[in-house]
Amino acid sequence: ANSLCVLGIESSCDETAVSVVRRADDGTVEVLSSVIHSQVVQHAAYGGVVPEIAARSHVETIDDLARLALQQAADKGVTADDLDAVAATAGPGLIGGVMVGLSFAKGFALSRSLPLIGVNHLEGHALSVRLTHDVKFPFLLLLVSGGHCQLLSVKGVGDYERLGTTIDDAAGEAFDKIAKTLGLGYPGGPALEREAKTGDATRFALPRALLGRKDCDFSFSGLKTAAAKIAMEQVKTPQDRADLCASVQAAIARQLVERSARAMVDFKEANTVEKPAFVVAGGVAANQTVRRELTALADKHGFEFVAPPLAYCTDNAAMIALAGLEHFAEKRAAPDFDGDEFRRES
Ligand code: KG4
Ligand code: ZN
Repeated sequence: ANSLCVLGIESSCDETAVSVVRRADDGTVEVLSSVIHSQVVQHAAYGGVVPEIAARSHVETIDDLARLALQQAADKGVTADDLDAVAATAGPGLIGGVMVGLSFAKGFALSRSLPLIGVNHLEGHALSVRLTHDVKFPFLLLLVSGGHCQLLSVKGVGDYERLGTTIDDAAGEAFDKIAKTLGLGYPGGPALEREAKTGDATRFALPRALLGRKDCDFSFSGLKTAAAKIAMEQVKTPQDRADLCASVQAAIARQLVERSARAMVDFKEANTVEKPAFVVAGGVAANQTVRRELTALADKHGFEFVAPPLAYCTDNAAMIALAGLEHFAEKRAAPDFDGDEFRRES
């Protein structure tokens, strides 16, 4: 049978996560469990993720989370005996956290004689949409999170072409850093969006990055500097602050739109798909302004806008299980398969 069941583990940043994902014979993907422990309150006081605290927290929680994820899957009739493989994030990420998850996965796989698949964290994000949507290859992906800001052409499992990336901060990082300058809480993205609701987005003129560059790269450092300067010199009242938040949000959204527009043109030149998917993943996809503008852009360029549910947009283990599963399915079908493949990518 082609049915496959994989335990996934994610621990590369500030979320410890374990999941069981099954792909049925007919290709239907089912998330049997996806449990997450967010460390956000542990890092909030520092205004960002502290690697040492993150690594220790992963150690403290990972076994309980695994027990919970396995229990939830068992409640749906799938036990540890039904697992075909274990997948864990092997990088990139904070090394202390990666090592916790990967070592835990190695031990688990060894104890149950299961193959272990190391998964590239970004590949997890790239494929996460397939947990819930039957998106066909190739598709265009905009990955916008706290750690990443990339445009990728996703041609197949393990076949990705990077069209653009950030030359400094990630989009979420820009939201977080500017929010911090303005005295908003951590994580800054949601806080800044809330403030922006009552602000005037046309109040402050902010620089447009990389204007005239004919690639799909991003840059947010100029915006960050300009916002900090305005915050210091012109923000006196709550209304000023709301106006700056709205202006910043509009500037970030505009850059995402401009670069995605270019990527869409390139993608259409390279592929002859009728109506390709434009998938937006990562925490910033939660931003309503960003979402609305990217949806309009996709319509304009003949793409279908697809955003995974938020639970699979932000860091989670279901996407790691699925990426591992899709690789394992290919490996298992190969003639030289020896049942114990370990891939290391970062
Ligand atoms: O994907 P994610 O959970 O973690 C990473 O892998 O980085 O993304 C978190 C990022 C943070 O930078 C956060 O500020 C941003 O996504 N974010 C938002 C919103 N919600 C989360 N940014 C803007 N508006 C939001 N509503
Ligand atoms: Zn991530």
